[in-house]
Amino acid sequence: MARFEVLKVVDPSHVPPSVLERAVETLRTGGLVAFPTETVYGLGADAENPEACVRIYEVKGRPADNPLIVHFESRSAVESVTGPLAASAARLADALWPGPLTLVVPRPSGRLVGAAAGLDTVAVRVPRHPLALQLLTCVRRPVAAPSANRSGRPSPTRAEDVIRDLMDAERQGTDLGHVVVLDAGTCEVGVESTVVDVSDGPLTILRYGGTAEDTIRALAGSDVEGSADASRRRRSPGTRYRHYAPETPIWLWNESDQDDTVEAGLGRVSGAWLEAERPLVVIAPPARMERLIRVLSAVAPRRGVGRVVGFGGGGRDDQGCATYARNLFHWLREADRLGAIAVLAELPDPAGGGYAEAVRDRLLRASGGRFLTASERGATV
Ligand code: TXA
Ligand code: MG
Repeated sequence: MARFEVLKVVDPSHVPPSVLERAVETLRTGGLVAFPTETVYGLGADAENPEACVRIYEVKGRPADNPLIVHFESRSAVESVTGPLAASAARLADALWPGPLTLVVPRPSGRLVGAAAGLDTVAVRVPRHPLALQLLTCVRRPVAAPSANRSGRPSPTRAEDVIRDLMDAERQGTDLGHVVVLDAGTCEVGVESTVVDVSDGPLTILRYGGTAEDTIRALAGSDVEGSADASRRRRSPGTRYRHYAPETPIWLWNESDQDDTVEAGLGRVSGAWLEAERPLVVIAPPARMERLIRVLSAVAPRRGVGRVVGFGGGGRDDQGCATYARNLFHWLREADRLGAIAVLAELPDPAGGGYAEAVRDRLLRASGGRFLTASERGATV
């Protein structure tokens, strides 16, 4: 029997009834359904079925103390479980749902237990992907869904990534049982939702994501704390773990670094690159990319050793950062697939538009904060 059943959806606005029925039946009988949202693919289970939620933890290899986000079709569906949202939370919900925003609210006792990891709060969100919304509307139950990657890996932004991680889980001895994967192509935003704690005190951004901090501040009508505040941050268990990391090591530089500084840092990886004859992945805006490729080609004169694979994203504008966000996890996964010796990536400027914060956050975690331009000595690929 197939361990996973992949159902392809060509037009996510018109999901064939047979596909929806299969997914709904799987969720209602305690199974797992991987589905696209506008941010990343989620691995879903009935949030009111604790055993089904446990299966999510097993398949992902997720630490048991890291709670799950629960997805609903609308604000009123959320409130039918959580009770009325507080005024500032309601303002965010009305302006930004459906969309890449997750609210952490008090959890009604005895509800959504399998998603809560023992906390008395719960994270809720209404995604805006048409397939996700149709699924949530038809199943008529809250659906717990973390990103559908193996814990620690980059989140999946296409169904192939989900399938690859499921196969890895199985290879490592996890019993997948039966999982339905709904394949509706590439996710639009590419980084996960912004998580805002509205459960008590000032609103606190626990995770940067698809909704910019400025947007939240403008709507909140009250104080908003950034995620830099470590004591509040501890309240979001997921932020404690190593995250988003490919196998390939990542080296960063800042958007504001001069070309000379970045080029001087290439020595840290070029020796290993030439020796290993493996590709080097570079992620940068076009002008910087051109220069770096020129410099790297000069280091490897006509020997055919290694090669540079360039992905263009970033810069200081909204569009460059949106492209970066949409493709970042895919590029990191591509680096692994290519067997690259390293990823060299430009860290966008914090002023680089709505997605800059989220891209910076993911890159800093994925790289462990390793900089090509850092002054420490002795670091190697
Ligand atoms: O865009 C997204 O949010 C995707 C899609 C599938 O909806 N989901 C997602 O889920 O990114 P996950 O599990 O990968 O990340 C959920 C984050 C974690 O950092 C977790 O610790 C935090 O939300 N979280 C969940 N419940 C929480 C709670 N009650 N209090 C604080 N943080 C919570
Ligand atoms: Mg995740």
